[in-house]
Amino acid sequence: MYTKEQTQKLQAVTKKLLKEPGSINELRDILRFHEHRYYVLDEPLISDYEYDNLYKDLEKIEAETPELITPDSPTQRVGNSLNKEFVTVPHLVPMLSLENSYNAEDLIEWDKRGRKLINTDEIEYSVEPKFDGASISLIYENDILVRAATRGDGTKGDDITTNIKQVKSIPLSAKFSDYGIQKIEIRGEVLMTKQSFKKYNEHLVEQGLAPLANPRNAASGSLRMKDPMVVRKRNLEAILYHISYVNGQSSVVNRQLQTHSSSLEMLWQLGFKSPAKEKKVLSGIEDVIKFCNDFEKKREDLPYEIDGIVIKVNDVELQQRMGSTTHHPRWAMAFKFKARQATSKLINVEFQVGRTGAITPVAKIDPVPIGGVTVTSISLFNPDVVKEKDVRIGDTVLVERAGDVIPYIVKPLIELRKGNEKKIVFPTKCPVCGDELVKPEGEAVLRCVNINCKAQVVERIIHFVSKDAMDIRSFGAANIIKFYEMGLLKDIPGIYTLDYEKISQLEGFGQRSIDNLKTAIDNSKSQSLNRLIFGLGIRYVGEATAKTLAKAVDHLLDFEKFSLEQLQNLEDVGIKVAGSIYQFFHLADNIEMIKKLEKLGVNLKNTKKEVEINGKLDQQTFLFTGSLPTLKRSEAEELVEKNGGRLLGSVSSKLNYLVVGEDAGSKLDKAKKISSIKIMNEEEFLKMIKM
Ligand code: IVH
Repeated sequence: MYTKEQTQKLQAVTKKLLKEPGSINELRDILRFHEHRYYVLDEPLISDYEYDNLYKDLEKIEAETPELITPDSPTQRVGNSLNKEFVTVPHLVPMLSLENSYNAEDLIEWDKRGRKLINTDEIEYSVEPKFDGASISLIYENDILVRAATRGDGTKGDDITTNIKQVKSIPLSAKFSDYGIQKIEIRGEVLMTKQSFKKYNEHLVEQGLAPLANPRNAASGSLRMKDPMVVRKRNLEAILYHISYVNGQSSVVNRQLQTHSSSLEMLWQLGFKSPAKEKKVLSGIEDVIKFCNDFEKKREDLPYEIDGIVIKVNDVELQQRMGSTTHHPRWAMAFKFKARQATSKLINVEFQVGRTGAITPVAKIDPVPIGGVTVTSISLFNPDVVKEKDVRIGDTVLVERAGDVIPYIVKPLIELRKGNEKKIVFPTKCPVCGDELVKPEGEAVLRCVNINCKAQVVERIIHFVSKDAMDIRSFGAANIIKFYEMGLLKDIPGIYTLDYEKISQLEGFGQRSIDNLKTAIDNSKSQSLNRLIFGLGIRYVGEATAKTLAKAVDHLLDFEKFSLEQLQNLEDVGIKVAGSIYQFFHLADNIEMIKKLEKLGVNLKNTKKEVEINGKLDQQTFLFTGSLPTLKRSEAEELVEKNGGRLLGSVSSKLNYLVVGEDAGSKLDKAKKISSIKIMNEEEFLKMIKM
């Protein structure tokens, strides 16, 4: 899109504009350039702060001279039409679906049919990922984005232009005129990356809400939000993969659009995210089959979900000759990866008491393997979810497990009901302590409010020692419960005053396991502050918020002096979260517990020095690609975090090290283009830690 020379020039202008005022045109161009660097290439050249300053400069000029505002100005992404109902609009060309295939035989059969239809020995195909998101259609007229719509019923969809403008990787204007194009309709998929999805779900759970089943639901739900500002916060991405309508000077247009692969290139050149880099042009179906099988193995490595490969006849003229049915084009085929859904029977529902007293219904199902894991229990979150889904004991249920997401009941298969299924009835008393349960106003969950309820105390300790909190590995839930019941452990500080004499007399506790436990507990004393904060189990404070909080103070007890307003000023801390943190640090019992922990040697400080001593990888950023010879991906990632390094989700100039295994894909190609990234193998990585 931008050549090296242009990039250098624009970067020089950026430096100038950061020092002195610029013209409206300069500011617009520069902001557009940096949006492309950040949202499309994932390689920002300036800090968020610098970007914001330039943005504010442009806003200021536009406020003074509103007549100069253009519809594609970076400021125009911000929607001003709140609460607008969606208007239905017709597509220029119907949005068809794709035919599905599931194995090599299906593909061989399809290729044979195609070759017969156009009377040829071999067809050239362009293959690319099948993105698992929400499909969209964009219309650009005279280089300006004029309309965006959902798929709807295929012939007409909802006008979601305002919301789409919040997706920063979609350019508000693009130089289609350079290609002789006046009006164009392009198709693509709006996605939420796995990382954003995880963060979003964490946020929902922190709020006591049910997480979403998969990033696809999150993306399509986001596009239908009434408030564009909410859409903006969801960090959506869009990948454009098909041109469905073009008008303009046909000779120029035809040259650029003769093949599908060159149209992907054109979209990339114009600043869109397209699968130009991922796609491959292959001759003959055998190579296509190999590509599909190889790509399936890389599925987990991608930053977003894909559910298959789309195979397209590359030559557009051939595509036109092959035509379409009313359902799908004959020139394209989806190769679907193995489903991560399965059906099973819901045998029973148990009610668990969490560390905040929340009662969670947990469905016990007949064990079923999905995506390499056997699923036996699935959370049903709260009474609202149970009611909404209308799941019953005895139902056959559809279960989904997408990527590293927790398993989820999609729906009961109502047509398979026999009539003897039982409704799920919630208890009125705590299943552990027997106290009356309450349903606080405005909350979806039932709660046991007895803070001394055994379940809560034990769950608080289990949470404190868990992998993402203080990470005391040798201290499993079973032992915590055992110690609690024997009176050897009654609260969190008690972890650091365990009576090892007494423990050594218990069955199954040899000297070695005691030594291991002791070392793990001692080591946890120097865990980083964010882990401690997360471990304290403050309501609505998940891992992300705990990191924000840790960065805001030098010492944990500094929070005693924080006002509600100061807390709300922290990144991603809303009024509800701030209220909960404030309350936590104004409860004498909590302060006493924290002081006890400090006396027992637990680190409450956040100093850069500690990070350096603790971590050999000292804040360096890492990303893994391909399969490593000895380490599992999760083990390698754990090593990074344990040694003070940070993990990134994608290749960008923020990345310091890319650790490459077998079958490394596009991440490696991308990293090779950024000279500051050091590329290494597993052996070199392990050496780095041992140093
Ligand atoms: S091409 C006329 N390419 O999958 C052909 N579709 O299950 C237009 N999809 O409706 C579609 N990734 O929403 C195409 N690389 C890709 C795709 C893709 C995802 C979606 C698309 C389609 C659905 C069919």
